[in-house]
Amino acid sequence: RTVYVNGEYLPEDQAKVSIFDRAFLMADGVYEVTSVLGGKLIDFDGHVARLQRSLDALEIRNPLDRDAWLEIHRHLVSENGIEDGMVYLQVTRGAPGDRDFAFPPEDTPPTVVLFTQNKPGLADNPAAKTGIKVISVEDQRWARRDIKTVQLLYPSMAKMMAKKAGCDDAWLVEDGAVTEGTSNNAYIIKGGKIITRQLSSDILHGITRAAVLRFAREAQMEVEERAFTIAEAQAADEAFVTSASAFVMPVIEVDGVALGKGTPGPVVARLREIYLEEMR
Ligand code: PDD
Repeated sequence: RTVYVNGEYLPEDQAKVSIFDRAFLMADGVYEVTSVLGGKLIDFDGHVARLQRSLDALEIRNPLDRDAWLEIHRHLVSENGIEDGMVYLQVTRGAPGDRDFAFPPEDTPPTVVLFTQNKPGLADNPAAKTGIKVISVEDQRWARRDIKTVQLLYPSMAKMMAKKAGCDDAWLVEDGAVTEGTSNNAYIIKGGKIITRQLSSDILHGITRAAVLRFAREAQMEVEERAFTIAEAQAADEAFVTSASAFVMPVIEVDGVALGKGTPGPVVARLREIYLEEMR
């Protein structure tokens, strides 16, 4: 595979980043994941806009403009022959000479890394037919989840707790309410109404979330943006998660309790269909 590192396209085994990089030592960096379907980038502008917001929040300089980002994405997709898959992008505060809690001098260049992952048949993921099972775990992440940082240790641990419990993912719970999934936004459907947590610094402002809610409203579906509990989720008709890599993914079980008939429901199936149709 060809990857991009600080201005250069290189074979992946020749790409190098300093051991003093702030992301390596302090998780001081942000990332984006953009899906590719049929060779086309999905919601590229949404991801670049959120990259800017994450960088602004951390006072990291954005080293490239929108068109330059697009050019690199397109180059890698075509060079690596990606039909279905994703482009991963990471920008870090760079690699000053020493480890220091204080930010390095302003002129320290940010580190930029991009690579692709090939996922043939990404939109036909069999899990979309069967649905996924989630467990709830306490949300122990830091309080700025609206910034898409590479600090992913707790979500990774939560994912492993889910796997150990024989499930697919975890929903994170804070003060009795679901914030989001380990790497996706969480929704329930009750009486035809789509309920998902309101935007704040408690959750990542999902690019897929924004698109799905827009399409739902355009299709005259009712949307309520508010927090919900695990008990409410267990009593819901349907549930789902959204992310750039999962699109709209049905949830059929929450903490061992089957939702509705215990199989993916019609509203989620329709939302997935609308989303894929509109974005492709
Ligand atoms: N995860 N919430 C969290 C905590 C996430 O990590 C993600 C994305 C989302 C969904 O955001 P979007 O719709 O913009 O992808 C919500 C990416 C896909 C990842 O870490 O791989």
